[in-house]
Amino acid sequence: MKRVMTFMAAVAITTSAVTIADEQRVVYPKGYQENFVEYLSLDRVQNPDQFIRLLANDVAMQGRDENGNFADGSVLVGEVYSVKKNSDGTVKMSTLNRRIKDKLLLVAVIEKQAEFGKMPASVIKTGNWDFGAFKPDGKVAAKNLDECRACHAPLTNSDFLFSGEHIPMK
Ligand code: HEC
Repeated sequence: MKRVMTFMAAVAITTSAVTIADEQRVVYPKGYQENFVEYLSLDRVQNPDQFIRLLANDVAMQGRDENGNFADGSVLVGEVYSVKKNSDGTVKMSTLNRRIKDKLLLVAVIEKQAEFGKMPASVIKTGNWDFGAFKPDGKVAAKNLDECRACHAPLTNSDFLFSGEHIPMK
């Protein structure tokens, strides 16, 4: 009996991992390194030992409308990096007192499509935006996308984005 239970638990874990991956509707924006514009790079504000490069596609770079909202078809990428450390493990700061980016850890994507809004993938709603998380090689990184949604969802006054104002209005 115990062995059966262990087996069932293993199946349950496997199934939930698959569900997370299947739920991801945003696909890896292939070629973004060449085709997207880098609009901001900064020490991550909520992570003490990471750096982020923010890039946007052409639709997003056309700007926000008079209400501050981006058009459907907008895609933003956040390249999350580890940062250089001192020998004692503390974060190394540059002469500018900024972190120095090291290895690419995660490609975090947010994409706006009308159909994402019509059929939300989650009870946590972020308008027409949905999220995707990828490893540096473009493969899906098994992340709980509800964590992304939960942190971005309260930003109803800035189209669910943290850095949207760094892209000019139309
Ligand atoms: C705990 C809060 C939090 C969580 C969870 C979170 N983000 Fe964010 N996100 C931020 C903050 C803050 C920024 C601004 C840049 C920075 O400091 O990292 C940001 C920026 C972004 C951006 C650039 C556009 C913007 O809103 O400024 C993308 C794309 C993004 N996040 C995707 C994701 C994805 C994908 C996930 C889940 C894998 C995720 N985020 C989870 C807080 C969060």
